[in-house]
Amino acid sequence: MAALITLLPGDGIGPDVTASARQVLDAVAERYGHDFSYREALIGGAAIDEIGNPLPDETIEACEAADAVFLGAVGGPRWSDPNAAIRPEQGLLELRSILGVYANLRPVRIYPELAGASPLRAELLDGVDLIVVRELTGGIYFGEKTRTSDSASDLCEYTSGEIERIVRVAARLAEGRRGKLCSVDKANVLETSRLWRDVTNRLLGEEFPGLEVETLLVDAAAMHLLSRPAEFDVIVTENMFGDILTDEASMLAGSLGMLPSASLGDSRAGLYEPIHGSAPDIAGQGIANPCAAIASAAMLLRHSLGLEDEASSVESAIADTISGGARTADILAEGETRVSTDQMTAEIIRCLS
Ligand code: IPM
Ligand code: MG
Repeated sequence: MAALITLLPGDGIGPDVTASARQVLDAVAERYGHDFSYREALIGGAAIDEIGNPLPDETIEACEAADAVFLGAVGGPRWSDPNAAIRPEQGLLELRSILGVYANLRPVRIYPELAGASPLRAELLDGVDLIVVRELTGGIYFGEKTRTSDSASDLCEYTSGEIERIVRVAARLAEGRRGKLCSVDKANVLETSRLWRDVTNRLLGEEFPGLEVETLLVDAAAMHLLSRPAEFDVIVTENMFGDILTDEASMLAGSLGMLPSASLGDSRAGLYEPIHGSAPDIAGQGIANPCAAIASAAMLLRHSLGLEDEASSVESAIADTISGGARTADILAEGETRVSTDQMTAEIIRCLS
């Protein structure tokens, strides 16, 4: 098949891992007879430096014209003054909103050989296979903000329509997995969470009576994610709770460098990005872990291009590469040999069946 993929390398290690993802996509195209073409565009700090805008119009056009969008990472100390009027993260948030990608899927997959890289005891990790479905275009991230010299506010708003559509995505996913759905809120304090809980309970009862449903307050969920991670299947939650819980969940996998994500809406292109940030301290050194980016490219193949076999073979190639012993610095244990971003990528391509 032919597909147009827009690449937004962004900042820090973004360009490093985007190059890896592209190499793997090219290898898939060659092996399976597809024709992928790419368009590169600016976002984040790189776009601020060149154009003065973290999401230039040309970038929006390139994303809207594409079948799928791949993003590396945005942000870095050069643009990190929290009081600056223009910041790299605004570009990413605006892009998510413009593309309407309200459903952010963040699977947490454990590679048994990396159990030692997690701060958790290995026996707790046995059987961990969960996916967090994070609402991505609403909530406190997008509410009105105010600021005076001595006070500030961020408005958190949700409508029942926004809650229904994200819970449906999560419930459908759960139906295709182990049939368990955990909804996370803070209904003992927040009005938005009370609406979230009412809408979720009603919708699940009406449309998904077969699911095993659990409801957790977010503080308890943060604890349960560490005390019994293997019991979770699909977790659905609002924007900010999902942001926080997925960084926490990455520690189950051993490194932020392992976790991919897909952001989907009802139409238009999906947006695919590793969940890690721009890691400016290691940018350009060729040592970043490309696994999260490559696993995000696999999700792109699956969700935007409908290429399930290709997606699975990329995921197996990552697993085989890890089993084969290749380790970037972030997942390196004592006595193991460290490989570069390029070596890890080449090994994954070699393992593609
Ligand atoms: C993420 C990131 C972003 C977010 C930042 C960079 C705005 O942390 O994708 O998890 O908070 O959504
Ligand atoms: Mg985050």
